[in-house]
Amino acid sequence: MGLPETINHQDVLLTLNTREEALIKDVLPGVDMQPLFLDPENGTWVVRALFKPGTTLPRHFHTGTVHFYTLAGCWYYLEYPDQPQTAGSYLYEPGGSIHTFHCPEDCEGADGFMVIKGANINFDAEGNFVNIMDTGWIEEMVVAAARSQGIDKPRYFKPKAQTGLAFE
Ligand SMILES: [Fe+2]
Repeated sequence: MGLPETINHQDVLLTLNTREEALIKDVLPGVDMQPLFLDPENGTWVVRALFKPGTTLPRHFHTGTVHFYTLAGCWYYLEYPDQPQTAGSYLYEPGGSIHTFHCPEDCEGADGFMVIKGANINFDAEGNFVNIMDTGWIEEMVVAAARSQGIDKPRYFKPKAQTGLAFE
């Protein structure tokens, strides 16, 4: 068999180097972020996130899956304190799982790369609904934070076409 006829020809690779891209500060309280790939239509978000020591995020329910690779620092889910995530840890979070992110004060923070499908549904400590954190919402937060820091055009990949009828 030869090469397939239908290929996605690329003039250039779709690549960014996080060491050369701006870090967008405080996209969420205590969380700096480098967006890498945001696809609001399909609900996929790929980001690098840096968490400050002492950061706790709302308890959340996942509608989809998460692959979370910790690059540095440490953090854990409050519900699973005996399974801290440290440099080199890979964590898979199945859809329907629920937990509360916490980066302890006595760590130097945490640095992680994650691929998320779907939304985090956030709840407060009493279990009351707070908000839906999906790709579109994250993109709005990223862009707003970037612009407030003088970064007019944060660089990340995003599928360009909005889906409509193919031949209209
Ligand atoms: Fe999670």
